[in-house]
Amino acid sequence: MASLRSTSRLFAASRPFFRPATFARSYATVEAGEPANASEPPAKMKSFKIYRWNPDTPSEKPTMQTYDLDLNKTGPMMLDALIRIKNEQDPTLTFRRSCREGICGSCAMNIDGVNTLACLCRIPTDTNTESRIYPLPHTYVVKDLVPDLTLFYKQYKSIKPYLQRDTPSPDGLEYRQSPEDRKKLDGLYECILCACCSTSCPSYWWNSEEYLGPAILLQSYRWLADSRDERTAERKAALDNSMSVYRCHTILNCTRTCPKGLNPGRAIAETKKMLASM
Ligand code: SF4
Ligand code: SF4
Ligand code: FES
Repeated sequence: MASLRSTSRLFAASRPFFRPATFARSYATVEAGEPANASEPPAKMKSFKIYRWNPDTPSEKPTMQTYDLDLNKTGPMMLDALIRIKNEQDPTLTFRRSCREGICGSCAMNIDGVNTLACLCRIPTDTNTESRIYPLPHTYVVKDLVPDLTLFYKQYKSIKPYLQRDTPSPDGLEYRQSPEDRKKLDGLYECILCACCSTSCPSYWWNSEEYLGPAILLQSYRWLADSRDERTAERKAALDNSMSVYRCHTILNCTRTCPKGLNPGRAIAETKKMLASM
């Protein structure tokens, strides 16, 4: 990991508003190169301070670089601002994004002290206050706002996040479940693995090599709660150790910060209840 830099900083992760995906679609730039005319409103300039670190110059410390944008010519979301900065001011600025509507989870970062998705985060309209943008806290940084999520994905793989069963369905068709059993997956299946919750969890900061963290534990409970899965005992046994759910101290940073409005803290509590009945 010599070429990666860790963002070992403490962040107050508070819960952002959940914004439906329909409001997330927007344009990064209203119209680049549009001629100024008398009817144009006065410029509404806002500063964005963005964490920069380049792996090609690893001995140089990270810096905060300031960019100014006219909000009248920028879409409403933080991702719109980042795309506009990259397109028009600094092509070297590096960040991940794909869907632009809160589905892929790739634009997760720390914006104004909150872990969230840049595409669902509105730019504060107060132009007197600058916005500060960092990569997800306590992650190794690949470059600028791109965190290294190798460990996170390895931990996800470790919980075997897929249906495991031997019994064929009676009619050879799909493995069906009752509407009541299907309802038990609500609030779990919507997780997009953005890692906002895990990187806001103090227990995960200090024990990320061993503690699975809230996102992976929510995913783990998603399979424990699935009536079609036949490996419940095996899944529970894998979690029955001091570094699994018992590192959770119910501080609930995870639940406060989830940009999809999910509750990993509750999933961990439900898992603890299941383990108590082993
Ligand atoms: S409730 Fe548990 S998992 Fe969530 S932030 Fe607190 S310690 Fe971490
Ligand atoms: S629970 Fe929420 S914050 Fe955590 S990974 Fe899933 S969607 Fe992201
Ligand atoms: S770009 Fe996909 S969640 Fe933001």
